[in-house]
This record gives sequence, C-alpha cells and structure tokens, in this order.
Amino acid sequence: MKSIDVGLGDFSYTIYIGEGLLDNLTSYLERYLSTNDLFIITDENVYGLYNPWIREKLPDLAQKTFQVPAGEQSKSLDTANYLYTKLLEMNATRHSAIIAFGGGVVGDLAGFIASTFMRGIKFVQVPTTILSQVDSSVGGKVGINHALGKNLIGSFYQPEFVLIDPLVLRTLPTREIYAGLAEVLKYSFIKDSSFFDLLDNNLAEIIGLKNIPLLEQVLTACCSIKARIVEQDEKESGIRATLNFGHTIGHGLEAATHYDTFLHGEAVLHGMRGAIHLSTLENLLPMSKAQQMLSIIDRLNPAPVPQNISVEQIINAMQRDKKRSREGQLWVLLKDIGQAMLTRNVSKKNIQDAVRFVLAYSK
Ligand code: GLY
Repeated sequence: MKSIDVGLGDFSYTIYIGEGLLDNLTSYLERYLSTNDLFIITDENVYGLYNPWIREKLPDLAQKTFQVPAGEQSKSLDTANYLYTKLLEMNATRHSAIIAFGGGVVGDLAGFIASTFMRGIKFVQVPTTILSQVDSSVGGKVGINHALGKNLIGSFYQPEFVLIDPLVLRTLPTREIYAGLAEVLKYSFIKDSSFFDLLDNNLAEIIGLKNIPLLEQVLTACCSIKARIVEQDEKESGIRATLNFGHTIGHGLEAATHYDTFLHGEAVLHGMRGAIHLSTLENLLPMSKAQQMLSIIDRLNPAPVPQNISVEQIINAMQRDKKRSREGQLWVLLKDIGQAMLTRNVSKKNIQDAVRFVLAYSK
C-alpha cells in the first residue's frame, strides 16, 4: 500500500493506493470520521456492480445509498436538489458525512453536495475509474455544470481521505480505460519525462490492467504529481493551470459536440494533440519530442472526430470556457516532455492551425 500526503494546512489529507483497499474501507471511515451517520452517493452503474458488496460490508448504509444516473447530465442543479432532499428526508445533519463512490461525475457532484449541505459536511472519495483515481478525486475541485458550460458552479473542498483500489478498475469498459489513460499521459507530458518512458515502455501492460504493482506505480506517480502541484497552488492562480494541458481545445471539442460524443478523456486526448502541435508551431517544442508524444497518444486510439465540426465552432466554444479570463486564453504548452509552461501570448493563426490539425485526425 502506498500513501501520499496532500499538505494543505488544516485541510491536509492522505491518498491511499493499494490492491484490495476497498475491503478495508470501514476501518478508514472509523479512523477519519467521528460519525457513523454516513451516506453513499454513487451512480447506477457502480450501484449495479457493488450493491451486494455494500450490503455485506456496509449493511447500515444499504438504505442510505443514493444513486444518480451515470453520466455527465447528473452534474446538475436538479440532481443536486434531489440529493439535498434525500439527505433532509433521512434526517442528515451537520455532523453527517458522505462517501463519494464512483467516477468523476459522482466525485464532483457528491463533493459539491458535501461542500454546500448545511454549510459543509465531511466527505471521502472512493474513486472507481482511472480518470477519477488520478485526477478528479484529488485536489478538491467539486462542482456541477450549468447549461452554459461545464463545471461553472462549484468550489474547492477537500475530502478527509481518498481511497484508491486498482482492483475496482477491472470492471471498467475499454473506452473508459483509454479515456482515463489520457489524463495519465498528461502528467508525464507536463511534469515527468522518466514517467513518460515508463508509460511508453509498458503501455500495453497498463491497458491490460492485470499487472497490479505496475498499475499501483502508475496511479501513485500521477497522484504524487498532482498532490505536489495542488500543494503549491490549491486555488489555481498559477502552476495548477498546467493540469489543464490539452483541456482548452478538449473542452472546445466537448462543447461543440454537445457533450454527447466524447468521454472527457477522449476529448483531452485530442486536445493534447492540438496543444503539442501548437507548441511546435510556436517554436517551443522540438518536432522529434512532439512526434514521441503524438505517437503514444495514437496508441490510445483517439475516437474519430466528427467531420461536420468547423475550426470556428471549436474556437467559439473555447472562448466561452471559464478558463478564459479577461486577459485572454491561458494556454498550457510544452517546451519538452515533462516541461510545461503557461502563456497567453500565442498567435491566432497558430491556434487555428492547431485546431485544424485536431479536426483532421483520422485513424
Ligand atoms: N483537473 C485539473 C485540476 O484538478 O486542477
């Protein structure tokens, strides 16, 4: 078992990573929460798989488990309202706590509920997808979507602990595996060239999800990189923005396709292709390094890009993205594998060319 501390003063917590940890959840709950008035928030898919496990391991919570539909549409005020009502009907108090048991949608939504219910109650993250294990469960970004954009309503609210069990990934659909690995690649691109080499040399085995020690090593590397960045810049006034590598064009692609074509990680995969290409157009990144990164991205089978999207549609969607401040779009570009930089000083023509490069992707 590995543990990674996220040092955030009074809001510090530990991420635990290890095979079979899920079966020890009760002992972590007892250690970290001074209450046994707990509620589980999950989605229908995870509930379908773990309902018998909840009944066996957490029998008191069988009636205190709330399921929401799987998918991005559950990150809404309507679903939040449904959950507030459920909590109130079941007499939850300021001393109750929430277990977020699921992927990124569940973690963001349950964390948002925890941060707002009765002005904030404790919560823990038990992520069940690669994407949520390496990214969304760590760092305290919680929130829901608005009709005008993703993640526009939310807060920074840290969990009491994060419990990551690689064995839960065995039931992930293939698409989710590839999409989650997009965020794994991202960490190597922005921060760690030796991690890139590890991924490059072992990608097929990682995708297979059978080599658990290797998987633990990968999950630990990602969470450590994220923890160190979040410690320096919890509220994203600087370096944390490097974690958005590939997300500018990625979010544009998700928005232009009405959030119903790509999984988030799939869009990020394309967005990273665009940001790598843009880094070369801006003469920051040598072509040979770009090729190395583009070729590992290709091994994650990026989903086809619909032919009917225009460069303008993506650029308009990018401009609505909340990360675009009044000073203009902040780009995360690369100078080398493992070396990210932030800049607003990027040529419009190069941005258009980078988006065109993304849209031209064909397998
Ligand atoms: N997913 C990016 C962040 O947590 O900052």
